[in-house]
Amino acid sequence: MKIMLLNGPNLNMTGMREPDIYGRTGYEEMMAQVEKAAQSRGHHLTCFQSNHEGALIDEIQRAWRENYDGIIINPGALTHYSYALRDALASVPIPAVEVHLSNIHNREEFRHRSVTAAVCIGQIAGFGYQGYILAMDALHAGKAVKKRSGEK
Ligand code: DQA
Repeated sequence: MKIMLLNGPNLNMTGMREPDIYGRTGYEEMMAQVEKAAQSRGHHLTCFQSNHEGALIDEIQRAWRENYDGIIINPGALTHYSYALRDALASVPIPAVEVHLSNIHNREEFRHRSVTAAVCIGQIAGFGYQGYILAMDALHAGKAVKKRSGEK
């Protein structure tokens, strides 16, 4: 599968930023581990991180133009309020899985709400960077189900 992995604001600080919440593995190392998992499964993975909402939206639109099969996205704090990101995900007919390193549901109240999850096929939260690998497998499983039921 051709998969785009998007990370939003401050995810590049992972490892240094609030390690008790987000873990001690740095961003580059996390992505290297996810890339390794993608390779072993025969997926083509493109990783992109930005602190800017518009740059993430541009990548979502690019994923459509370039026929990606799936999107994995950790929108960071944009999760909780970005209708623009939500609309971008809703605009493209590509299945997306939302990932959070931490369990946003047992944290501050404002993190409980995701405006983007409803336009994703599902959400994975609380498993650290393993969540990205679980999301990859979820996209693949979803595709297999569609194939069996005759959908494109
Ligand atoms: C996060 C959770 C968000 O609430 C927070 O703003 C982040 C990271 C996570 O991966 O747990 O930046 O998306």
